[in-house]
Amino acid sequence: MIKRSDFAESFLFGAATSAYQIEGHSFGGAGPTIWDTFAKTPGNVVNQETGSVACDHYHRYEQDLDLLNGLDAYRFSTSWARVMPEGRGPVNERGLDYYDRLVDATLARGLKPYLTLYHWDMPAALGALGGWTNRDVARWFGDFSDVVMARIGDRVASVATINEPWCVSYLSHFLGHHAPGLRSIEATASAVHNVLCAHGEAQQRMRANSHKNLGIVLNFEALQAASTAPEDQAAAARYNAIMNRIFIEPIIKGRYPEPLMEGLSAHLPKGWQDDMALISQPIDWLGVNYYTRQTVADAASDPWPHLRFIETKNATTQMGWEIYPEGLNETLQWLHKDLIGDLPVFVTENGMAWADTVKDGAVDDPARTAYLFDHLAQVRNAQRDGCNIQGYFYWSLLDNFEWAFGYEKRFGMVHVDFETLKRTPKASFYALKEWLAA
Ligand code: FCB
Repeated sequence: MIKRSDFAESFLFGAATSAYQIEGHSFGGAGPTIWDTFAKTPGNVVNQETGSVACDHYHRYEQDLDLLNGLDAYRFSTSWARVMPEGRGPVNERGLDYYDRLVDATLARGLKPYLTLYHWDMPAALGALGGWTNRDVARWFGDFSDVVMARIGDRVASVATINEPWCVSYLSHFLGHHAPGLRSIEATASAVHNVLCAHGEAQQRMRANSHKNLGIVLNFEALQAASTAPEDQAAAARYNAIMNRIFIEPIIKGRYPEPLMEGLSAHLPKGWQDDMALISQPIDWLGVNYYTRQTVADAASDPWPHLRFIETKNATTQMGWEIYPEGLNETLQWLHKDLIGDLPVFVTENGMAWADTVKDGAVDDPARTAYLFDHLAQVRNAQRDGCNIQGYFYWSLLDNFEWAFGYEKRFGMVHVDFETLKRTPKASFYALKEWLAA
């Protein structure tokens, strides 16, 4: 089995969370977000649940950070609507104070604070103005990043602008599964482009203020074609462009991938070409979120992108996602060889959901322990083949609000009872701690 000493001393082990999923958005004077609006419409979120109380991390962050004893870093996000309830203009000082305390409490425990500025909780007031489909969002986001960084930028170890632009745009505006729940190709094209502009704008401002270690967090899936038939191969290539190449290529190469343009080019905002320089400014590191693999087949009679997914016969998680650790290595290798070279990479999310239950005060989750170490072994393999990977964050520290799935899917290394809010570390968590200490 893989050992801690197989990794460099400087390699960081951490756990990740995000604001809306754990804080309890009803506390501390935060404004409403597009997720509050989205969840109110029946059918969007399991049991119409919201992040209103979530894990009550807003009040319990000290005890939650204590759990991380023995790890090196903590990845968290700032809630835009907590800091600026209307998204623009007035600042909620209580919100900023909270992040100030959170960063200090993280540092006090010897943990490096890894900040993500935006993890999906757009202020509802900006959503009403078109949210990510409005080009002004780049400026609004830039202003928000200024406010946050002026307060905590002196103490964070690293900053990601945006978490998973694919979910922010494609999943939310084309597939309609996440807020704002649109199914429009025009909205998707604008959101894809504007989220990149927002990333570029915030980056530019942070650089101008001498902030360091600036990156972005993208999600990737391993994939295979359903067969060797040319149609299935082409469908897999299309999906690869839509899922994997869509953001990293504009950022690194300053261009959108061709198979994506087949669907989007007619709908991109006018003058989009002029933004490519802003979008493709150099970054200091890339965050890679990896969970699963897809098997893709052609679906010629369906509308663009004319593809469908084949159900896996392999083991899956509570989400129904195939467990495929080799895919993490495949993804890291592909990025290294085709796109980013030696740019430092952090695995910023990796983990699995399981229907965990507490029995006699303990949670036995052997599948998660296996998932964790099998993926770490693949990180090590990728390093051996030359990938510059500098850290790994488990998703997630706590069971939390899993977006459209409400509180049903449990990704935590620590179980949360959502009636009593009691925390119970799972066996996988003890396994990781012991492994780190060995
Ligand atoms: C990622 C998200 C994170 C969580 C995990 C399971 O897409 O970044 O918030 O939902 O998936």
